[in-house]
Amino acid sequence: MSGLEVEGIHVRVNEELVLKGVTLRVPNSSVVVLMGPNGSGKSTLAYAVMGHPRYRVEKGRILLDGDDVTGLKPEERALRGLFLAFQSPPTVESVRVGTLIREALARRGFPFSESEAIALLERVGLNRSYLPRGVHDGFSGGERKRLELAQALILKPRFVVMDEPDSGLDVEGVKLLASEVAGLAESGAAVLVITHNPRTAEILAPDRVAVLVSGRIVAEGGLELVREIGERGYEVVAG
Ligand SMILES: Nc1ncnc2c1ncn2[C@@H]1O[C@H](COP(=O)(O)OP(=O)(O)OP(=O)(O)O)[C@@H](O)[C@H]1O
Ligand SMILES: [Mg+2]
Repeated sequence: MSGLEVEGIHVRVNEELVLKGVTLRVPNSSVVVLMGPNGSGKSTLAYAVMGHPRYRVEKGRILLDGDDVTGLKPEERALRGLFLAFQSPPTVESVRVGTLIREALARRGFPFSESEAIALLERVGLNRSYLPRGVHDGFSGGERKRLELAQALILKPRFVVMDEPDSGLDVEGVKLLASEVAGLAESGAAVLVITHNPRTAEILAPDRVAVLVSGRIVAEGGLELVREIGERGYEVVAG
């Protein structure tokens, strides 16, 4: 299949088996929303897909456009077009926002232009005053999410995992997120968005919704699943 595929992965963090055989397919040009209770393993799935060394894949495979990347380092996955927007984006004081944008452009073969960098920041609701600041340094919760979105836009990834990109975003921010996610999918990307918010899920209008409970996918379907979760909770959906 072309897109992002997770095939029966078992993932151990420290001593604990957090994911117990998760299979999830995100075809190219589509948006899949993943929901699930706190601690169910959503971020673990995101880290395992990206190749974080603490999240050990004991069984199963991760595929990008059919290529098995399970053994690759995070940077090798990134070079194949995989991008992870963190639930809690880390602060990187020593790297300026402007430098990050310049390097991202250079990686794609484009020269740095300050006006393009400013346009990118303005597109996500930030402005030129952020250019000399350290990455996420002193950023508010919503500003962090906006800069993460900017990174996704500039890198033009082909496989995108966003871990609660809506947390801390204001109403306008969530609309912006939805329109940019739609744009990424329209340009061919496979986009997986993790969220707790039924309203975000509805605005995203995903092709599919998957529900993770206790390290297992317990339901897959359309937006009706989101409504059911809102009304009756995860335990009922899990059956
Ligand atoms: N680095 C770690 N060390 C110890 N335990 C961890 C680590 N990472 C995850 N876990 C544990 O694995 C389980 C799943 O955590 P995870 O962060 O994947 O949940 P989540 O579904 O993303 O939850 P939330 O909705 O709160 O973000 C939790 O019990 C968590 O404490
Ligand atoms: Mg999480």
